[in-house]
Amino acid sequence: MCGIVAYVGPKDAAPILLEGLARLEYRGYDSAGLVISNKGLKMRKVKGRVADLAAVVPARFKGTLGIGHTRWATHGAPSDANAHPHLSTDERVAVVHNGVIENADELRAKLEADGAVFVSETDTEVLAHLIARTVEESDSLEEAVRTALKRVVGTYGIAVIDARRPGEVVVARNGSPIVLGIGEKEMFAASDVAALVRYTRQVVHLEDGELAVLRADGFTTFGGDARETAKEPLTVDWEAGHYDTGGYEHYLLKEISEQPETVARTLRGRLDDRFHIAHLGGLNMDARESRSFRRVKIIGCGSAYYSGQIGAQLIEELARIPADAEPASEFRYRSPVVEPDTLYVAISQSGETYDTLAAVQELKRKGGRVLGIVNTVGSAIARECDGGVYLHAGPEVSVASTKAFTSTAVAFALLALHLGRVRDLSPADGRRICEGLRRLPRQIEEVLALEPQIKELADKYADAASMMFVGRVRGYPVAREGAQKLKEISYVHAEAYPASELKHGPLALIGPETPTVAIVPDDELLDKNLTTLGEIRARGGRVLMVGHRTADPKLADDCVVVPRNEIELDPILLTIPLQLLAYHAAVALGRDVDKPRNLAKSVTVE
Ligand code: F6R
Repeated sequence: MCGIVAYVGPKDAAPILLEGLARLEYRGYDSAGLVISNKGLKMRKVKGRVADLAAVVPARFKGTLGIGHTRWATHGAPSDANAHPHLSTDERVAVVHNGVIENADELRAKLEADGAVFVSETDTEVLAHLIARTVEESDSLEEAVRTALKRVVGTYGIAVIDARRPGEVVVARNGSPIVLGIGEKEMFAASDVAALVRYTRQVVHLEDGELAVLRADGFTTFGGDARETAKEPLTVDWEAGHYDTGGYEHYLLKEISEQPETVARTLRGRLDDRFHIAHLGGLNMDARESRSFRRVKIIGCGSAYYSGQIGAQLIEELARIPADAEPASEFRYRSPVVEPDTLYVAISQSGETYDTLAAVQELKRKGGRVLGIVNTVGSAIARECDGGVYLHAGPEVSVASTKAFTSTAVAFALLALHLGRVRDLSPADGRRICEGLRRLPRQIEEVLALEPQIKELADKYADAASMMFVGRVRGYPVAREGAQKLKEISYVHAEAYPASELKHGPLALIGPETPTVAIVPDDELLDKNLTTLGEIRARGGRVLMVGHRTADPKLADDCVVVPRNEIELDPILLTIPLQLLAYHAAVALGRDVDKPRNLAKSVTVE
């Protein structure tokens, strides 16, 4: 949420900051700005996209140190004035900030009483004035920042520069990510490695409470107690090319189309054909420990939560351990009972979602054993967990999650196989699942080949005012994800219900104006699902069925037929047509597919 970039080194900072901001734009995109230090601070900021900012940055905007920001508004509407950076009244200190300062109003009142003149409605401007109050008498910028942060309640990732100390940038983290990038006689910092990979693969993640000083020749990190901390750089394997559209019209279509490869990468080296087990070294658990859990509780937000529902079903079916999924955003607030014999699993593509991170921290405080299913190596949630499974799906740039969803479901299949094979899952069933998983990448290619048909269907259904998505048991999380994808990128209202629940209320909504997308795999619930379709058709509802066979035209207007896998793994293949349906509906409606309104990738605020 929001993007931060900072640079200090021998090169011109402005092009580097603009390039970094463009890479981060998927995190927030309602306004953008930058400050360069060169005999004073020079600032440009605008309401709008990074391209709008680039258009107002003059060619002669020279200087080798600067900070930049792309915003997703929390305090104050998107406007030039509310865009970051924010300056102190004397224009000596500039700050960019991600997060929320909870006591901003109180601090603002005190600072105003003390003569500070505020020019924006943001909470961030408080930081600029606070730091300016102490910078004069402080021995260093980091001391001034540290002193100011002591008065702040809330979350932040910040980058700060002082016009009178033109060789350094200070960054600090508390709840909002900050990553340092180590170059050749140059240093970078950003809220996300996406902004750094073009320049360096050597990164250092700051922990909450840490602060760092960057100079062209290196960096120093400090803990909350102001003592220096030793940090080992990490090498990231994501490349700049991952952040290009690769010839596709949108990142979303590129990411949907990558799924044969991303699923293969999630599986790579993890299936054992001799014993029909999964090798998941990152779990940090031996067989005895893996057997000891009596429940599995899965947490995640949004699409990650829905993939967790697929995971819960897989674990119950394959490992016969009671499992359920819950939104992390709810879990963290309801004082959950944390049991020693429960295995907790947190899911996050970004590894930075604040609600999920806070839930993991709450679990850890209460002694819970937490695994992470995470895409971003070294991210906050990955670091916080006791072990886990990395997805290796590569960066997801489009705001709507697609390839991380399928890779998460695959990671759960591996986890369920592991937990099942140390319990009662037979070698024959283990083999069946291993073989099913190996078939997935090729079958995903077959589903992707249905794109022309799905595009036609999207054109046909995109004018609906509202759509219903239904499925039963394994199909229900698929329906939820389908509805989520449609509403977030096409803005068509969509509801997901268990098909079994329709007649308990929502059937009242069904009519010709509300088409239903029905997930109908060829499993033990087929007949029940077909009965539901009959009930919908009897009320004049249009039906688009996604499943394994074509239905009687009396039951469905349209059918998308996907290849069969094992019934436990079918949800993975059934999800992909719904991604394509949402994508083409959004395109047909002229939406901003990769940057849907009001949303941002990585929700790092509460
Ligand atoms: C939906 C979507 C969101 C995320 C959610 C969690 O397409 O992308 O619902 O799934 O914000 O994000 P991560 O997985 O980064 O924790």
